[in-house]
Amino acid sequence: MSLFGRIVWVALALLSVSQSYAEEGMWLPNLIGETRLQDMRKKGMKLKAEDLYSTEKASLKDAIVHLGGCTGEMISDKGLFLTNHHCGYGQIQSHSSVENDYLTHGFWAMNPKEELPCPGYKASFLIRIEEVTDRIAPESLAGKPQKERDSVITARKREIIREAVEDQPKGYRASVEGLYYGNQYFLFVYQTYTDVRLVAAPPSAIGKFGGDTDNWMWPRHTGDFCIFRIYADKDNNPADYSPDNVPYIPKRSLVISTRGVRADDFAFIYGYPGRTNEYLVSDAIRYIVEKSNPHKIALRTQRLEVMNGYQGKDPAVRIQYAAKNASVANAWKKWQGESKGIVRMKAIDRKQSLEAQFVRWAADKPQYERLLPRFRDSYARLEPYAFAADYYNEAFRAVELFQYAGRFARLSQDSVQKLAKRTEVHFKNYYMPIDRDIAERMLTAYAEQVPETFQPDILRRNAGRIGEWLKEVFATSVFAAPERLNTLFSEEPENASIRLQKDPAVQIFTAFNDIYRERIADSLKSINVEIARLYTDYMKGLMEMQTDKIFYPDANSTLRVAYGRIEGFEPADGVVYRFQSTLDGVMEKDNPEIYDYDVPEKLRELYDRKDFGRWEINGTVPVAFLASIHTTGGNSGSPVLNARGELVGINFDRCWESTMSDIVYDRDMCRNIAVDIRYVLFILDKYAGAGYLLDEMKLN
Ligand code: ARG
Ligand code: GLU
Repeated sequence: MSLFGRIVWVALALLSVSQSYAEEGMWLPNLIGETRLQDMRKKGMKLKAEDLYSTEKASLKDAIVHLGGCTGEMISDKGLFLTNHHCGYGQIQSHSSVENDYLTHGFWAMNPKEELPCPGYKASFLIRIEEVTDRIAPESLAGKPQKERDSVITARKREIIREAVEDQPKGYRASVEGLYYGNQYFLFVYQTYTDVRLVAAPPSAIGKFGGDTDNWMWPRHTGDFCIFRIYADKDNNPADYSPDNVPYIPKRSLVISTRGVRADDFAFIYGYPGRTNEYLVSDAIRYIVEKSNPHKIALRTQRLEVMNGYQGKDPAVRIQYAAKNASVANAWKKWQGESKGIVRMKAIDRKQSLEAQFVRWAADKPQYERLLPRFRDSYARLEPYAFAADYYNEAFRAVELFQYAGRFARLSQDSVQKLAKRTEVHFKNYYMPIDRDIAERMLTAYAEQVPETFQPDILRRNAGRIGEWLKEVFATSVFAAPERLNTLFSEEPENASIRLQKDPAVQIFTAFNDIYRERIADSLKSINVEIARLYTDYMKGLMEMQTDKIFYPDANSTLRVAYGRIEGFEPADGVVYRFQSTLDGVMEKDNPEIYDYDVPEKLRELYDRKDFGRWEINGTVPVAFLASIHTTGGNSGSPVLNARGELVGINFDRCWESTMSDIVYDRDMCRNIAVDIRYVLFILDKYAGAGYLLDEMKLN
């Protein structure tokens, strides 16, 4: 490239890095300032700032439910909320048995008495957000040693939290979070309800239709929803389950639009995105695409090969490993999209140009001038530990036997007895040959890839005969078979504890954990703390350097608003994805031979009779749609709202071509996937005959 070409290229790259596209960003709702609001209104939003967030009167934020890892939304004044089927999966599963298999057949409570209490499942509402940077005063601690700094900040946080929750109604809790890498601090106050009951869940053949085959992909045909109801005491306050509790009356519930979505409509999402890393330096991204992701993906490919092999041969094993396979496959597929997207976007080059600009800008600023070389140095020192930790987590911890043995290894006799009662739960979904083959592949990879200093002796001693060694381990460990474990429980406690310590699986668990603790964990932690401090300064510097850019804070499981449009995209040359999928596509995929595509008989019948009721549009029923809204994990279950703030869909996924948006956002490729609310209503009304639930909702 000519010098001129290079300058132009760099300038263009810089432009695209520093320009914050409207669709990029996850904004704190209390900080939707004039600029942001104007942009949203220019793109079609009809709401005012106080409709989105207010502490004076009911606003949309009061309809948003935090479910820990997922989001939900209130849809009736009697405590009903919606979330994804995959978010409620654990609750649905825990109520399922062979006689009442709600995962397979679905569950519809036909009256309040039939609703199923879900002990331990909690629903929280955000009461308010308040900036508390002045009280944490990070600047006042600038010169202090890290330890002192951390302990002062922790003490100040604790004080703020104490004040926020004392003398408040029941169920109040609070947290103080550092945003923009600790340049600003915010207090989040929540109220948590603990009597939550399952009301409705479609069969997995609807709620999980397409399974892992379609996961992260378009076109999508999943009815990924389920419904819960929150109960409260007579004063509408949180209370643990009691038959005397009454449906919770939310401050605000959503109006549901039955009018659907059209191309280019304004849409926004209100919810709890988990984690993004939009301000990483190039060294960090290089580690992710060049080392971490390829190794983690390769390890999971091997695990999936083993699982798929055995699952394909035996239907019972297929069911046993369905959930485990799904969770391994989920991140595996996501990382592949992420790496591909980072490469396609030349994210490393872009970040390097930004960094070059930063270095020039910082040349006369002592506070910033050494930052980038220090990042380089810290990341170089971090890498061996990060790499060993990747293998510890993805290879060693992938072996169920070692993890299970580890749960017993350090326990007192009583707790062992408690675990003993639950062995059935573990072995119900355990198939030893899968675990043994995975163990062999994982430990072989560990021995080949991880430097010897991070390998426990027990692994080094057996490095030449891993297969044989593990055969012995699985043939003798009491944790590999329920009969063996039960004999252990019937022994005298002293003998049992000696046998426990001598068990080969316990020994392997202990050996890996010791190595991790002694050689990996401390350095990993201290270098990461050092890097976090560098980011605090880097973030501040970026904000001073790019004065015309509005920065949004990385997602950290706090409430955010993100917005964009209803739109499809072109994932590859010559391919166009339209924004809407319909029931026709469900039927195109229908195949009773393929588990993921086995459409329930009743849905087939409705389709054949074209019995769509009021949900028919152009001879079919809408199922899912795409939008260009910036989302991430944790946004599952989030409401997709139209310009008037009415519910039009439930977010449940992104396209895999989009998943690099956790690190770099691409307006042309980033699409989130939502189930169309009309499909939810159709399933409730025509499939389940639970149309009475619609009477509680406000349909527009
Ligand atoms: N990809 C979505 C998410 O990250 C859905 C995962 C659940 N569905 C599945 N087929 N594994 O959570
Ligand atoms: N399915 C994801 C979740 O559970 C959302 C997908 C994503 O955007 O990462 O939150």
